[in-house]
Amino acid sequence: MNENAIAILGGTGDQGLGLALRFAKAGQPVVIGSRKLDRALEAAEKVRQAVPGADVEGLANEDATPRAPIVILSVPFEHFASTVKGIKEKLADGQVVVSMGVPLAAAVGDGAVRTLGIWQGSCAELVKSLVPKGVDVVSAFQNVSAHRLQHLEEPVECDVIVSGAKASRERVMALCELVPGLRGIDGGPLSNARIVESVTALLIGLNIRYKVSEGLGIRLTGLPGESSGS
Ligand SMILES: NC(=O)c1ccc[n+]([C@@H]2O[C@H](COP(=O)([O-])OP(=O)(O)OC[C@H]3O[C@@H](n4cnc5c(N)ncnc54)[C@H](OP(=O)(O)O)[C@@H]3O)[C@@H](O)[C@H]2O)c1
Repeated sequence: MNENAIAILGGTGDQGLGLALRFAKAGQPVVIGSRKLDRALEAAEKVRQAVPGADVEGLANEDATPRAPIVILSVPFEHFASTVKGIKEKLADGQVVVSMGVPLAAAVGDGAVRTLGIWQGSCAELVKSLVPKGVDVVSAFQNVSAHRLQHLEEPVECDVIVSGAKASRERVMALCELVPGLRGIDGGPLSNARIVESVTALLIGLNIRYKVSEGLGIRLTGLPGESSGS
């Protein structure tokens, strides 16, 4: 395992590919996972085209999982449980699984501007209930737009609220700082993921009302150490 690598399962999709591009651009080794090896290879090639010299490889999800200490799940909410069950045996103590899933009501044919109630409280806590005991789960990146991640020429301009056990969330907050414009915010315990996930549904509604095709992000103001800009 390369200690600096980041695995992104479902990294063939909009959000995962966006993160892969950004982390590759920051010089991190990236492993893109897919259910199909050829799709993973194709996505890795896209990253290489956009970021010459990128250290990126494509593998099947189950082979990508043991390759990195941090494994980001980037599949639609309705496929989280089956995806986690499919890689569970490949996870080892000390690995951190990042959930950026949002339980949008669209998963059951309703709108994308509302979330579903999840028995465990959030998508991230559902993941926590499924991974082996020694594996931590961190919630992050739900409020970042795929479109903005993929446009490498612009900073992303979004705060990322990161929740989970302290040491693990600090590792993921450090990842945020690698991407121009992203800022990791200490979001406390994993149970706060339910609030962060529901903000995404709110942002989708705002995107519609304000006709923002690039996707809105969030910014907190007044944090200690922040310059007023004046
Ligand atoms: N798009 C955004 O702007 C955005 C913003 C914030 C958060 N998110 C979150 O990020 C995650 C990924 O979003 P996305 O827009 O990238 O999704 P997506 O493009 O619809 O799907 C991502 C990947 O999921 C995999 N997938 C599809 N069906 C699957 C199934 N039945 N079982 C297992 N894997 C399956 C596919 O990878 P393979 O076919 O290669 O396996 C696909 O490329 C979601 O949880 C979403 O809520 C997205």
